[in-house]
Amino acid sequence: MTAKIIDGRLVADRMQVAIAEDVKAFVAQAGFPPGLGVVLVGDNPASAQYVRMKRKACEKVGMHSVGHLLPLDSSQAVVEEAVESLNADPRIHGILVQLPMPKAIDEAHIMSMVSLEKDVDGFHPINIGRLAQKGREPSFTPATPTGCMVLLKEAGVNLDGANAVVIGRSNIVGMPVALMLMKANATVTICHSRTRNTAEIVRGADVVIAAIGQPNYVPGDWLKPGAVVIDVGTNRVDDPTNEKGYTFVGDVDYESALPVAGAITKVPGGVGPMTITMLLANTMKSAWRSIGQGA
Ligand code: GUN
Repeated sequence: MTAKIIDGRLVADRMQVAIAEDVKAFVAQAGFPPGLGVVLVGDNPASAQYVRMKRKACEKVGMHSVGHLLPLDSSQAVVEEAVESLNADPRIHGILVQLPMPKAIDEAHIMSMVSLEKDVDGFHPINIGRLAQKGREPSFTPATPTGCMVLLKEAGVNLDGANAVVIGRSNIVGMPVALMLMKANATVTICHSRTRNTAEIVRGADVVIAAIGQPNYVPGDWLKPGAVVIDVGTNRVDDPTNEKGYTFVGDVDYESALPVAGAITKVPGGVGPMTITMLLANTMKSAWRSIGQGA
């Protein structure tokens, strides 16, 4: 058996075409485009690259974007001012504060300052709290976990009562995706760097979400035959055969997983393109709500 490939690039492209149409419909009604505000502090190359990609994607679908690209030594007050100005700007419908923030910045406080209506990353503590509670709905859910859930739906996975194992417990992916899987009625186990018997736990999983940030961490022989695997990892590894000298691999050893899994995402071309797309979709949702329309 060879796993079916869950093609995130294809799903993301299809969704972005629909979002571009929705942007046009919004502009026709509001007279101006939906807007995303981005705050980036420091010069972490991966973060800077993510922010460039997010702003480029906005441009591609016709959204407006505003960037506050602040130096590494910015004070707490300067970062707070950037968030406040985006909160107050009627042309901005979504705010993205790129994480992680430099150590000197009180990240938790910054997250709590983002207007709930514009919290398109879903990281405001109230939104995370609502995500964790039965019968409560956050105004937005975080982009990467939402992308994982969309890909599971695309793959036709029935999560009701399924055993789902999340590997990794980050605030950005592991924790929120576990909460979303639980809301979708899966039985969820979270494995992390201190878990003693990860291989054994993963062997019982119908669905595996790998988000631990370690190249090829999950070998194929950890997987239950037919398991659906979503690989969130994007790990840069040396590769002398590549002209750049490096390549990106996931948290799952793709080659050994392919003959065992029922379906699997690729790296790159799996979850990555979905993250940006879900951010655009949340910004669109926020824009419609701001003029009294949409869910
Ligand atoms: N850093 C890595 N992924 C993300 C993300 O989805 N949102 C934000 N704000 N920062 C990130």
